[in-house]
Order: sequence, then structure tokens, then C-alpha cells
Amino acid sequence: MGSPELSFTHATPYDDYVGTATLRALPGPRTDAPEEPAFLVTTQVMELYFGLVRTELRLAVRLLGGPRLPEATAAIARAAAYLDVVNAAWRPLNRLTPRRFNAFRAGLGEGSGFQSALYREVEFLLGDKSASLAQVHRGNPETYRELLAALRAPSLYDAALSVLDRRGYDVPAAVLTRAPETPYRPDPQVEKAWARVYAELGPGDELWELAEALTDVSDGFTQWRVRHLAAVRRSMGAKAGTGGSSGASWLERTLRREIFPELWSARTLV
Ligand code: HEM
Repeated sequence: MGSPELSFTHATPYDDYVGTATLRALPGPRTDAPEEPAFLVTTQVMELYFGLVRTELRLAVRLLGGPRLPEATAAIARAAAYLDVVNAAWRPLNRLTPRRFNAFRAGLGEGSGFQSALYREVEFLLGDKSASLAQVHRGNPETYRELLAALRAPSLYDAALSVLDRRGYDVPAAVLTRAPETPYRPDPQVEKAWARVYAELGPGDELWELAEALTDVSDGFTQWRVRHLAAVRRSMGAKAGTGGSSGASWLERTLRREIFPELWSARTLV
């Protein structure tokens, strides 16, 4: 029976590969409040996953410009799977009540997830563009440069609409040549194009698989927004946020910024 290797002179190869020392050195809770460790670790885990989602969406944009559509769809499907994990990670925070949150909230100072550059870049990649929301990172030139690049580049949705166009679907030139940094506005021709995909194609067809993977990402990202808002309302009601916004009412407005809008509205036409 083979036994595992037991003798290493320094850190184990596992420690080297995973960076366990770095993980243990991450900032810990600032109070003894029993809920703070989970609040902090959940936030750190979500940041790591936002990074994974960003990697896949960047890759998908690149792949959608080339001939290998199923590879782009696979990257989008991986992003959707990561969003499922992030959404499941809300569970420990569901029972955070205002009294328990107040016990450690002061430690956040003016810190807020609103200042997450990775989250903002994911929004930009999904086509939810806002030059003003990028401003918060002006003090950090490298992060700001990356965010502005994402703001000014075609989004995943722009790239998907170019694929529809290349495959003979009627996507208006004004949509294909719009300035990428402007917020996307739904278009009736684009809605008809997706309706055609759903009316004429099915499982195994490349465009149908792409449409469904995009819908999974839109669904997963929207669920994150909904779960986050529920966590906010449960733990602090309608109080103002540490990031300076009005809190829940400000977050409610973000729910109106729909991701890939015609992929939802097209279903009414089919
Ligand atoms: C109970 C826990 C939480 C509360 C009470 C809370 C509270 C808030 C509030 C009030 C805002 C609005 C901006 C502000 O004024 O601060 C906000 C934004 C945000 N929070 Fe949280 N948050 C919680 C957990 C988390 C976690 C775990 C993450 C994960 C990274 C996160 C990420 C974000 C992001 C990305 C935004 C910006 C949303 C947008 O711009 O649409 N939050 N949060």
C-alpha cells in the first residue's frame, strides 16, 4: 500500500502551490463579534471569484472575435458556474441582524463593496458601463487604467451581437458601431434576432448554446444583486451605506440595469 510522502525540508509543495502562508496573512476581523470572520471571508472569497469571472469573460470576448464559438461558450458557462458558487456563499450572512452587524460595522470605516474594482470590471464586461462609477479608483492609477480599458472596449454582449451579425442575423449597424463606453440601449432588431435564434434553433446549435450560456450569466449576476440587496435589508434596513450611498434604495436602482436585455425580452416573441 503506497503511503503519502511525509518528509519535506521546508513548506510543503501544497503550501507553495496554494499560497497558504499568504492566505493566513490576509487581514482578519477587527472585533470579537462572532459574525465578523464570516463577513470578511465571504467578501474575500467573492473577490477571488469575481477575479475568476473576469478572466473567463475577458477570454470569451476574445474568442467571440474568432471562429471557435463553442470555446467562447464554454468560457461563458464557466463564468456562470462561478456565479452560482458566489451566490451560494451568501448563506452565512443571511442571519446577520442589525444588532449583530452593528457590533463590527464601525471597523469598515468608509470601506464598501462599492469600491470593488473587480466587481465593476465584471459589470463593464457584461455591458453595464458607467464612467462615473469608475471614478472611485482614480487614486489607484493601475486599477483605474484597467477599468477605463474595460469601459472603452466592446463588452461581451457587443462581441456576441457581432457574432449574430457575422452569421447573417439582422443587427443594425448603429448597434454594432456604437461607442462601447456608453450604456447599452435595447434595440427591437436585436430582440428579433435573438427571437429567431430561439424560434429556429435548439440544443447543440452553436448560437442557441451561446444564448443560453449568456442568459445563465445574466441570471447569475442578477441573482447576486438580489441576494446582496436582501443581505443589506436584513442587516441594516434602510440605513445609509458606509460607501456614502443611501443604501438599499440606491442598490434597488441597480436592479433596473438589466444585463443582456433582449435575451430576456425576445422570449415574449417566440
Ligand atoms: C450584510 C452584508 C453587506 C452589507 C450590509 C452591504 C452593504 C452595502 C451597501 C449599503 C452598498 C451600497 C454602497 C454604499 O453606500 O456602501 C453596497 C454595495 C456593494 N457591496 Fe455590499 N454589503 C454587504 C456584503 C457584501 C459582500 C459580501 C460583498 C462581496 C464582495 C459586497 C459587495 C458589494 C458591491 C460590489 C457593491 C457595489 C454594488 C453596485 O455598485 O451595484 N457586499 N453594499
